[in-house]
Amino acid sequence: MLNWSDDPITPTPAPSRPVTPPIFAAATVTALVPPTGEVPGLGGINPVGGRVSVSEKAMINCRADVNQLLPLKYHWAWEKYLAACNNHWMPNEVSMQADIALWKSRDGLTEEERRTIQRNLGFFATSESLVANNIVLAIYRHLTNPECRQYLLRQAFEEAVHTHTFQYVVESLGLDEGELFNMYREVPSITAKAAWALSYTQSLADPLFATGTPETDQAFLRDLVAFYVVFEGLWFYTGFAQILSLGRRNKMVGIAEQYQYILRDESIHLNFGIDVINQIKLENPHLWSREFQDEVRGMLREACDLEVAYGRDTMPRGFLGLNAGQCERYLHFITNRRCAQLGLTAVFPDTENPFPWMSEVMDLKKEKNFFETRVIEYQNGGALAWE
Ligand SMILES: [Fe+2]
Ligand SMILES: [Fe+2]
Repeated sequence: MLNWSDDPITPTPAPSRPVTPPIFAAATVTALVPPTGEVPGLGGINPVGGRVSVSEKAMINCRADVNQLLPLKYHWAWEKYLAACNNHWMPNEVSMQADIALWKSRDGLTEEERRTIQRNLGFFATSESLVANNIVLAIYRHLTNPECRQYLLRQAFEEAVHTHTFQYVVESLGLDEGELFNMYREVPSITAKAAWALSYTQSLADPLFATGTPETDQAFLRDLVAFYVVFEGLWFYTGFAQILSLGRRNKMVGIAEQYQYILRDESIHLNFGIDVINQIKLENPHLWSREFQDEVRGMLREACDLEVAYGRDTMPRGFLGLNAGQCERYLHFITNRRCAQLGLTAVFPDTENPFPWMSEVMDLKKEKNFFETRVIEYQNGGALAWE
């Protein structure tokens, strides 16, 4: 059974490259190496080339044909693709009636709760697109492995479903769409996060950018850290805690249910990203130097500081069961966890999880009693049996 906790599957050990490739003749392999700037997979076809050998598959700078899914090398990537397909859901399958009634009621929500909900939705509404664009326009091109690309295609669709969620929420609650979808430009604490992440994807945007040197390979790793570990693995988690904390108190239960499905998707995105980074490290140990490790730890610390500022901005006074101070401690705990998953020394001193209930919320089987929603009727219910 698949594990959808934070723990990624152990990546495939680095291959020992055969001295003489048994199937791929050296000349053929060379012919398939894309010239600088060429998109791997769109090059010419060599009709007399040998068949792809698993040993020739690689995460980056691949020397084998990237159009051939089989034979599989990275089974963890394929398993995540299958798990993601089993988790299929659509936002408009979730009833918003209770949320609409509460949102339109005069005193069902405090001003602080309304502010948190709006800024939370405002952050996620465009973040899903930022993540999707990074997958399609930056990562896909340089991750030169077909099974990983298969997962990326599924993930890109899921990010579209997540963006759809915010369109559905805006429509259901009658929110100001201009205000919500412009928050990443107009609310400084959200802008600061988006700008931080965009700086990493922009560095890969040059059409002449190509991996293959230590400098450009590290630039690619920075982008993976910024989006998979920080955006999806750090910043989304305080957002989940905010909404799911309200859901525990029977407030905005429709959005809370949608966030549970998003959280389930995002936990696989995060684990995929961690596995990808760790696999690239295994295959290219020279990239993971002491200096680079310190740089990544610095990135995580910076990202955590941005999130703490965002937490204070979204809930200056806090509400029942949640405040900015707790979110800061939760962020420190999550940041240290991400460090451990990447094999890095912790960034913060010993930390404890102030929201132990979050791990319960991640178990959807319990949630059907929790929010009294219709998870039990969900068509892919069999896929919810994660442990
Ligand atoms: Fe997403
Ligand atoms: Fe995601």
